Amino acid sequence: MHKPAAMIDLGVNIDHVATVRQARQTIEPSPLEAATLAIAGGANSITVHLRGDRRHIQDDDVKELREQISVPLNLEMAVGEDILTFALGIKPQQACLVPEKREELTTEGGLALDPSNTEMRECIAALQEQNCLVSLFIEPDAQIIDMAKELGAEAVELHTGAWANAYLDTNLSDDQRSQAITAHLNKLEHAAEHCAAIGIRCHAGHGITYHNIRDIVHLKDLRELNIGHTIVSRSIMTGMQAAVAEMRALMDAGPKS
Ligand code: PXP
Repeated sequence: MHKPAAMIDLGVNIDHVATVRQARQTIEPSPLEAATLAIAGGANSITVHLRGDRRHIQDDDVKELREQISVPLNLEMAVGEDILTFALGIKPQQACLVPEKREELTTEGGLALDPSNTEMRECIAALQEQNCLVSLFIEPDAQIIDMAKELGAEAVELHTGAWANAYLDTNLSDDQRSQAITAHLNKLEHAAEHCAAIGIRCHAGHGITYHNIRDIVHLKDLRELNIGHTIVSRSIMTGMQAAVAEMRALMDAGPKS
């Protein structure tokens, strides 16, 4: 049955607004301004990943967003003492625990979970004590979802990367590609069903685009999608003409009197 997409929250990841700013170490574009526009466009939450290497989002961005945006802030973070201390000071409404590797371009895979991992268990509990909704970024697998629940998480975010990458796999024939997409989508669907069966909230994200969104948004039991790169990319294209026209108009207006 068609499920109204409005039932699924849209979290917009604005990391790459900060990536552009950091390329020049300057003050524009502003993640806060981007977040405000994203909210005006319908974002239900704003996601930022404060990486250990601070390659895009900076501590002050997170503080500013937490203080000024009108929707929940979802802080993506690795498990670690320093970042946890920072997060507890910021009190984000949501946190998504992710694996982090220094050399990766983006978060490559889901977390390796182990129910006896006390550091992760304590990290989840400490955030939850502040009424933070904690999700764990994991591969779409029932056993891993069970472990997330055992660790105390109230939500998981299913890694959609393998499914999304299948659309771009030029080594496959069209038939093979569509089979691969269907196989990955089935895994995601079963994982989402498993979440519902054991009573854990199901989020998903990574690699979702304007091209593939309509293939996933119907999945029953999905509560939230987190989307970043494609939205920031699209906003450059939808904004380019107006931005150039504004610069041209200023050039033509001559000097300030
Ligand atoms: N969810 C998580 C946990 C992520 O790490 C990312 C990438 O930062 C996303 C969602 C968004 O992925 P994308 O930028 O490909 O939309």
